[in-house]
Amino acid sequence: MERIKTYIERLDEQLEGGIPKDTVSLICGTPGCMKSSLAYSILYKNAVANNLKGVYITLEQEIESLKRQMGTLGMAEENENLVIVDNDMIDRELGVDMRFELNSIKKAQYFLEDYLKREDFDLLVIDPINALYSLTAIKNPRRAIYNFFAELRKMSVTSLVVSEMHLGDNKYGKYGVEDFLADAIIHLDFRKEKDMLERYLGIVKMRYTNHDLQYYPLLYNKDGFVIYTKAEIEL
Ligand SMILES: Nc1ncnc2c1ncn2[C@@H]1O[C@H](COP(=O)(O)OP(=O)(O)OP(=O)(O)O)[C@@H](O)[C@H]1O
Ligand SMILES: [Mg+2]
Repeated sequence: MERIKTYIERLDEQLEGGIPKDTVSLICGTPGCMKSSLAYSILYKNAVANNLKGVYITLEQEIESLKRQMGTLGMAEENENLVIVDNDMIDRELGVDMRFELNSIKKAQYFLEDYLKREDFDLLVIDPINALYSLTAIKNPRRAIYNFFAELRKMSVTSLVVSEMHLGDNKYGKYGVEDFLADAIIHLDFRKEKDMLERYLGIVKMRYTNHDLQYYPLLYNKDGFVIYTKAEIEL
């Protein structure tokens, strides 16, 4: 099975090499747990080190703000393999009829079908999927999300779908179905240790992959994200 490296230090070896190609993964967590940074870093590192093409769809953070945040993390280099798209660009690409008639999930789907055909993208981030729910009430979320994820898989792209969780929430997605429908769940979490918040990363599920269920401490250093395994901590 072909896999996409996360370039998170030590994680790929825990995942038999990375995330299975052409699958849909949720990257979920509460505000500020670095969902966007983690998703971006996977695209960025694959663009720079692996010559893979990625498109990052930012639906709630302006492109400039996203770039500034990634710049502070040392991911400032412009790379032609990495494209950032926002809502306005999606609206501009779709005809007026579609813009007003489609719900946000369908809009994203039509945009991607067209856009991904034009260039052969390997990786896609949608940040966050919650923004696709915001404008229209979805009558049958399970079916709508199932269809959307199925379409993403058909587009031969490895998708990282950011999902926002609320504090104290035990659902990985708004409708409580995203987690069943996605192929993988990468959960970012905060824990309070004495007076300090610490970041953790857990792989709740990843289809086709033999992984363990540790929550790994997650840090960002000048070279990128790094996790610590139990073995490391015991040393
Ligand atoms: N060098 C750094 N090392 C560790 N954490 C950092 C660093 N720089 C910024 N941060 C943290 O990252 C947070 C923002 O990360 P990011 O935007 O990726 O989170 P997010 O989960 O996408 O947030 P949101 O829920 O607002 O979309 C900042 O609030 C800050 O706490
Ligand atoms: Mg974010």
